[in-house]
This record gives sequence, C-alpha cells and structure tokens, in this order.
Amino acid sequence: MSIETRLNMVNDSVLDLIGNTPMVDVSVLSPKPSVRLVAKLENQNPFGSVKDRIAKAMIEAAEKDGRLQPGQRILEPSSGNTGIALAAIAQIKGYPITILMPTSVSVERRQMLQIFGADIVLTPGEEGSNGAVRRAQEMAEKHPEWCFLYQYGNDANPRAHYETTGPEVLRDCPEITHFVAGLGTSGTLMGAGRYLREHKPDVKIIAIEPPLGERVEGLRNLEDGYIPPVFENWNGFELLDRKRVVRPRESIEWTRRLVAQTGIFAGLSSGASLAGAIKVANEIDEGTIVFIICDGGWKYLSTGAYTDDLDVAEAAAEKIIYF
Ligand SMILES: Cc1ncc(COP(=O)(O)O)c(C=O)c1O
Repeated sequence: MSIETRLNMVNDSVLDLIGNTPMVDVSVLSPKPSVRLVAKLENQNPFGSVKDRIAKAMIEAAEKDGRLQPGQRILEPSSGNTGIALAAIAQIKGYPITILMPTSVSVERRQMLQIFGADIVLTPGEEGSNGAVRRAQEMAEKHPEWCFLYQYGNDANPRAHYETTGPEVLRDCPEITHFVAGLGTSGTLMGAGRYLREHKPDVKIIAIEPPLGERVEGLRNLEDGYIPPVFENWNGFELLDRKRVVRPRESIEWTRRLVAQTGIFAGLSSGASLAGAIKVANEIDEGTIVFIICDGGWKYLSTGAYTDDLDVAEAAAEKIIYF
C-alpha cells in the first residue's frame, strides 16, 4: 500500500471502521476442488464481532426516531457480542447502559463489558439466554424511561445486514452460490439473505442450528420455544432454503481446523457455520459457499475450547453459553 493511500484512510471515529470486512478464500478446507469456500471476517470489526453492525444501527435508529435521548440509559439482554458492541458505542456516546447476562458466560465477556463501562445484571445460568431476555423484558416494563433496544425484535438489526453485509458479500464475491450463517437473533440471515435473494435469486440461504437441547455458541434452534420477531417479520420460513444442524463437537472440531489450516482464530459459532458449509459442499457438485466468521476466539480462551481434550471441551460446551 502506498503512503498516499494510507493518508486517505484516516477515519474520524472508530465507528467508521464498522463493516466493510474482508473476505478470504479458505478452500483448503473444502472436500472438493470444484467447491470454493469463502469466509467473511466479521471478527475484524473494531469491537470484535458481527454485532458491531447492529449495535451501531440500533443506537443510531433510536437516536433518529427520538427513543434515545442524550444521557438516557440503554437496556439489553446479551450474553456476549451485542452487549459488548452496545457498551462500547454507548460509552463513546455518553449513554449509561445495563446489560443482562446469564452467569454461565465466559469470564472474558464479563471483563469486556466492564472495560466498556456497562452495568452488568447477572441472570441464572440455568435459564440461559432466553431467561436473560425474559428478565430484560420485565425490567423494561418497570423502567419505561430506559431505552430497551431488544435485538430480537428490532428492525434495525436485519436492516443493518440488508444495507451492509449483504451488499458487501455480493460486491466482493459475485460468484456466490450459497450463503451459510448461524441463527441467533436471525438478523444476519434475514438481512443479508434477503438482499442476496433479491439481487441474485439463485443463491441458496442456509441457516445453522444446534440440535434441540444442545448448545452451540450464539446459535438457537427455532424449535426451542422462541422464534425471534425479526425472523417472523422478515418471513424467515420463506427466505431460508434449508437448515443444517451442527453439533457442539463438530463446531469445536471445525473451529480448530480453521485456525490450524488457515490461521483464522474464530469463535465456536464460526466453526459451526464452517461445519455447515462443509455439509453443503459434500452435497453439491460445484459452487462458491460464503460463510460468516462471527467473532474471534479470544473471548473463549478460558473455556478450553481450543486446548482441552476434545471430549472435555465438548462436555464444557454443554454448560457454557458462548454468546
Ligand atoms: C458469536 C455469535 N454467532 C452467531 C450469532 C448469530 O447471529 P444473528 O443474531 O445475526 O442470527 C451471534 C448472535 O446472536 C453471535 O453472538
């Protein structure tokens, strides 16, 4: 890169660095030479995950429509990335913020929230993320003066992906035939998926889910009793071509292979998406499968997911909430 180009790259704010993440060919992991695998590196966002996009979008939308006034408290249930990104942006912009998270999340995530100045309310680990959502809803009713952003129902979440993630994927990889991503709030799949469907109708949209009752970081099974309003509002059942179920063990295995063979150090939901992409690759003759690296591996180091014996790591994954 020339010095001149670099001079043009001074940004006004770290918020301007959100999005426009790089894509990289990881076909070395593909089971067939005729199927290309491409990763979109959302871990390269400034606060570390794909959720930087929606945190910025939800806060800016609430500022615009007057629901968020200067100094007003923000409230959100999040066991990880959304909370971290919201807390970072709230701190820069001067909003106090309360994040509800289950006790069972990794210590690094709690530390990140502390660094970014959030007030943390711990909810019972056995209730999982659904419990944190429920308790946040109760808290929002008690505190109507707070701004409850609610990523599961906030239209700015899928819209951020419709306006940025989807267009970036098609711009950088126009030969895409399959889009694979994990399903949490469903924002990534609904937003980027709809954009791809509208602009390249043949692209297949594939959601990765854990089996019912098993945990894979950041992901939910739609049959577990809660369908995010974002999924319903964006006609998720029509948009998705299919779902692929990925078990915690496969997620850990593919997360480890990813770092070993490509150098990409990712969180476990990225390994789940990669495992799903490999299943798709095994079923097709040729194509280009794009999958999302949601976040980096740093926040999960203490869980032993990368270093423990696979059986031990698998057993731990059942207890730890990774997102
Ligand atoms: C690590 C991780 N992976 C995947 C997801 C799923 O993304 P989405 O909420 O857009 O469906 C999330 C968030 O829910 C996440 O934090």
